[in-house]
Amino acid sequence: MNKIRRIGVYTSGGDAPGMNAAIRAVVRTALFNDVKVTGIFRGYEGMIEGDFTEMVSRSVSSILQKGGTILKSARCPEFRTPEGRRKAYENVRRSGIDALVAIGGDGTFTGAEKFSQEYDIPVMCIPGTIDNDLFGTDYTLGFDTANNTVIEAIDKIKDTAASHNRLFFVEVMGRDSGCIALNAGVAGGAEAIMLPEKETAIDELIDMLETAKERNKTSMIVIVAEGDKNGGAYYVAKRVKEKFDFYDTKVSILGHLQRGGSPSSFDRVLATRMGYFAVNELLNGNRNSTVGIRGSKMVATSLEEALRGKEFKLDEELVTIAEVMNI
Ligand code: F6P
Repeated sequence: MNKIRRIGVYTSGGDAPGMNAAIRAVVRTALFNDVKVTGIFRGYEGMIEGDFTEMVSRSVSSILQKGGTILKSARCPEFRTPEGRRKAYENVRRSGIDALVAIGGDGTFTGAEKFSQEYDIPVMCIPGTIDNDLFGTDYTLGFDTANNTVIEAIDKIKDTAASHNRLFFVEVMGRDSGCIALNAGVAGGAEAIMLPEKETAIDELIDMLETAKERNKTSMIVIVAEGDKNGGAYYVAKRVKEKFDFYDTKVSILGHLQRGGSPSSFDRVLATRMGYFAVNELLNGNRNSTVGIRGSKMVATSLEEALRGKEFKLDEELVTIAEVMNI
């Protein structure tokens, strides 16, 4: 096994609060172990273009509390081609990088696995996405912060919904994952939650809302995940209104504000632990894995298992609890 002298770190895919804290932890843990660090800007796009920078301890001063990512992020179709990966490898080799830490979601992990297999370069991944939809960890970076942002918004919407006796459809992020919607539905006391993983027919939703009305609810909140199969909050609201117009109906799309903001204390600590653990795993000879937290323990899971292992599942108990809380 070759000794690792320089680690390249990058963020890729959708940004998430806590990515900066993870970059800081990677840089400082590596430097502490006499390993140099190259920051790669814009993920795979920057790797292909050779957009690199030397990172010292002061490069990551005062970023712990900042949302977004100082290394910038991008989605890069060119990296899916062998030619794109070859260009990336030439830049990586030229700059003396002998291991990589990739921070991002499943697209980032897939690229990292392919690259490490093709060019025999050790990679450790850190799960950073607000979607919380990765196998191998109980929590991904940014999920806690995004939930807090969503809850703050829902609380505010509830105030105005209650004042005007209105029915609100609030759309939250999650193209394929209902984790934010489910969590927000429970923490925000929603009357119904529409998840990508579970199809809710419009008639079924109307039945739920009618029951709630009969129980003397004067205002209501329905959380709709962006990836809900019916087609998003505007569409759901329109369809409901056609058959159930007892309440004045409004739609609120929370959008990208869910991705920004200062990371919560939970995300900062998690990011710091993950960055520290990822570098130590690499230095101890582990490769082609993702770090994660299970219970209170840091764990590593092979990318093979994380990407192709047991399919990620929504917390069914929480789905039931949300229903029970609606009586
Ligand atoms: O992967 C996180 C995520 O926020 C998804 O929930 C959402 O569908 C997507 O990113 C939006 O990505 P973009 O910023 O590229 O539109």
